[in-house]
Amino acid sequence: MTNQDFAIAIMAAGKGTRLKSKRPKVLHEIGGRALLLHVIATARTIVPAEQIYCIIGHEAEQVKAAITHTGVSFVLQADQRGTGHALQMLKADFGLSGKTPPENLLVLSGDVPLIRPETIAAVRDAHLREQAAMTILTAVPADPHGYGRVLRVSEDAPEVLAIVEQKSLTPEQLGAREINSGIYCFNTRALFSKLDTLDTNNAHGEFYLTDVAAMLVAEGRRVIAVKAESVNEVLGANTIAEMMHLDAAMRLQNAHRLMSEGVTIFRPETCVIDSEVTVSPDTIIEPYVQLLGATRIGSDCRIRSYSVIQNSTLGDGVTVRNGSILDSAQVADKAILGPYCHLRPESNIGEGAHIGNFVETKKVTIGKGSKANHLNYLGDAVIGSGVNVGAGAITCNYDGVNKHRTTIGDNVFVGSDSTLVAPIAIADGSYIAAGSCITEDVPSGALALGRARQITKPGWVARKKAAPESNQS
Ligand code: UD1
Ligand code: CA
Repeated sequence: MTNQDFAIAIMAAGKGTRLKSKRPKVLHEIGGRALLLHVIATARTIVPAEQIYCIIGHEAEQVKAAITHTGVSFVLQADQRGTGHALQMLKADFGLSGKTPPENLLVLSGDVPLIRPETIAAVRDAHLREQAAMTILTAVPADPHGYGRVLRVSEDAPEVLAIVEQKSLTPEQLGAREINSGIYCFNTRALFSKLDTLDTNNAHGEFYLTDVAAMLVAEGRRVIAVKAESVNEVLGANTIAEMMHLDAAMRLQNAHRLMSEGVTIFRPETCVIDSEVTVSPDTIIEPYVQLLGATRIGSDCRIRSYSVIQNSTLGDGVTVRNGSILDSAQVADKAILGPYCHLRPESNIGEGAHIGNFVETKKVTIGKGSKANHLNYLGDAVIGSGVNVGAGAITCNYDGVNKHRTTIGDNVFVGSDSTLVAPIAIADGSYIAAGSCITEDVPSGALALGRARQITKPGWVARKKAAPESNQS
């Protein structure tokens, strides 16, 4: 078998009426990623992107925009008249383009997102081995309600008689528990020969792809069922509650992957961990932590509760105290962050640096061992090593039109509540007096004061109380 013998179609044109949402169903997210992107990522492990045909329809432009970067091909199903109709559109597309259809077609559903590559490969392999015209992936979940049921010739036989949709089940068939996953492998020619004979004489008034099973059987073709190893991976996401069930399953699976790699996660069921996240051994993650996107965390770190870390890279031995928010930040070894700090994009925190309570950083590089521990805003700045930024000191980087840069050398002491009006450069080893508004560059080793002189009036209070109406000074 070569790859040319296979293509994958993903049915993703439906509206998702049961979600009661204006967002198309396949763009709803679980595990931090749209349903359809999960399915495409899995499909790409089986065939190259150009052999994947996404059938889109409802809000087609929006869906296309969200997935076009994957390089898949698109087929438009302008009005959505059922899963059988979706495949009719694919057939028509091959007809129009003059391209030869592949010998076999794997069909996936855009709303069955947890399907694993191994399972799709197992369907493909069984299909070839058994020389079937149609192979159906099935499962036996605790509650089969709502799914189409797969009726076999006999309980242990691989051969199938038909797929019956929930609403068409006869009273005797209501007990059937083996569900159709909506994932199939077809001999393309066999499938295409039946699509035009489908009808809409059913409860939904739609063209059911599932009707193809009985049609092929009637012709003496081989239709078989293959059971999935785990039920979760074939569950559909038709309601928000079903999606959240899959989301929780996926996030918990990610936590278990990290734990199996040596990461300690207290109360893993409370943590939200995306699939791309990596964490090295001996890092400890406390309850209610979110690790999102392409986050990378080194070893021996401690991530305390209520921190949300997204698309960020942390070295080894980093402490993130409670309630810290990191977005696209880079943090070197042994840095200490938080509690309650906000590292915005392009924050580069040096080795052993401290970024403390209620400190916000943006587009800033902070050198080794520097400290900004209380109530600072540091933006558009390059800060050297060994710097101490006092409580409440801020960079004034914005003049209402443009952003300007602040440069602070090594071993600078910035007194509390100073405002550094950019563009400005503060050279190595200098001191900024507390409460200063600094508007001019400060040379190396200097003390800069930029504040009004204090006036003290002895006895003023007593005089004021004695003659409250007077304008005494
Ligand atoms: C379908 C199956 C059912 C199976 C279940 C598994 C049919 C008739 N029934 O039911 O046997 O147990 O999946 O999850 O196929 N879609 C289109 N165009 C359309 C209609 C749907 O592309 O015109 C897409 C949807 O976007 C979705 C997928 O096909 O991704 C399945 O459609 P859905 O309406 O969810 O089918 P189910 O009722 O779940
Ligand atoms: Ca469905």
